[in-house]
Amino acid sequence: MKISRRTALAQSTALLGASQLVNPAFQLQAQSANAAPPLPPPDPRQEATRAQRMKWWRDARFGMFIHWGLYSVIGRHEWAMEDEAIPVKEYELLAKQFKPKPNAARDWAKLAKQAGQKYMVMTTKHHEGFCNFNSKLTNYCAPKQGPGRDLVAEFVEAAHAEGLTPGFYYSLMDWHHPDGARCATDESARRRFVDYIHGHVRELMTNYGKIGVLWYDVSWPLNVVGWESEKMNKMVFDLQPDIIVNNRNALPGDFATPEQRIAAEAGGRAWESCMTLNDSWGYQTTDDNWKSSKTVVRNLVTCARDGGNYLLNIGPRGDGSIPDATVPVLQEVGKWLDGNGASIYKAEPCNVKRSANANFTRIGNTLYSHVHFWAGEEFAIAGLKTKVLSAKMLRTGAPVKFVQEELRIRFVGLPKNAPDSPVTTIVAECDGEPKQDTDNVRKTRERAVIA
Ligand code: GLC
Repeated sequence: MKISRRTALAQSTALLGASQLVNPAFQLQAQSANAAPPLPPPDPRQEATRAQRMKWWRDARFGMFIHWGLYSVIGRHEWAMEDEAIPVKEYELLAKQFKPKPNAARDWAKLAKQAGQKYMVMTTKHHEGFCNFNSKLTNYCAPKQGPGRDLVAEFVEAAHAEGLTPGFYYSLMDWHHPDGARCATDESARRRFVDYIHGHVRELMTNYGKIGVLWYDVSWPLNVVGWESEKMNKMVFDLQPDIIVNNRNALPGDFATPEQRIAAEAGGRAWESCMTLNDSWGYQTTDDNWKSSKTVVRNLVTCARDGGNYLLNIGPRGDGSIPDATVPVLQEVGKWLDGNGASIYKAEPCNVKRSANANFTRIGNTLYSHVHFWAGEEFAIAGLKTKVLSAKMLRTGAPVKFVQEELRIRFVGLPKNAPDSPVTTIVAECDGEPKQDTDNVRKTRERAVIA
């Protein structure tokens, strides 16, 4: 929803720019929002250290995203300020009402750990402009408002306490800062605003110890030149040489961020799918469209199959508590990972994809079939070209019988009811990297004989 909103925003500025009726300021803004200056050449330091910097993250596979801010107090989605056009003065009142219980982040971190997540990325500042961290650059920040303390510091401490890596989400777009929109059309506003934003990034990269991920968001209304993104990333790597950065400050960064969808990047480039657990990132009291643990596991399997990470969001309430429906889903996912994680965390890209009832991951020559619709005694895969040497259930280690024919493999003698929940994993050791060719099945299979 939010992607299309952003797209809509870009389209509407493009339309305005084309119109004769708009005022010149809007035209300027439209130009700078839409002009795509050439990207600067990749930073050699970032390139040279990338594989090393990203190793922990690639192994981590599964992370928790946390959207938390003043919008959590009203519970009508994190875009409420803009979607409802709430005036700044009215919205600012929330800063005094935001009074989270101490160390709420410890419950998030405990849940993340239980869920099998290895890192956590929290909103340090969302589009609303309120800083959950202590900033010398604004009073609109947690220690100087309702919370009376640094919520980012609490978050970092909570992540470490559970052995998880903390990461920071930070929105460049800012609906509160006086220069947040006019920076596109007024150079002195841009100078002030970019100094402010870079200043925040400096604070975040300086005051909280080692941070795993910097997760920029929404670069409206400037471009890579306007944001001085190259300089921004250089500063980040000077301060945090081991960090990884995403691609939302108008530079490609270390990894791509498909949102609410799973889409592998070409050429082995790293990617992370971020997704909500219901339909909202920020707390939304009445959003009951929760994903089931089966959906979450299936998504995680798809990310692992295609070599990506999965960043799954929670939207705590204003007091920091986790919405009730969130907890059992994540706990079920964690229980599943306890028995099945071996097929997920270290998975390598897998060529076997086709089945209406299962999805697949691979490590070396081992193929994992993750059956989400259990059909009973038999489970078959078409077009597996690799010889299977042995098979077993992943959770229990119980051997599984199989019959391999030219165009299919059948795992047979299986229990009538799914032995694991929400997805059952069958492990097949193969004599080479498992490969599937279903085209071949369609083309070469025997056809009926006309009587
Ligand atoms: C979009 C939304 C935002 C959310 C983010 C997460 O950019 O504007 O609300 O934080 O996606 O990826």
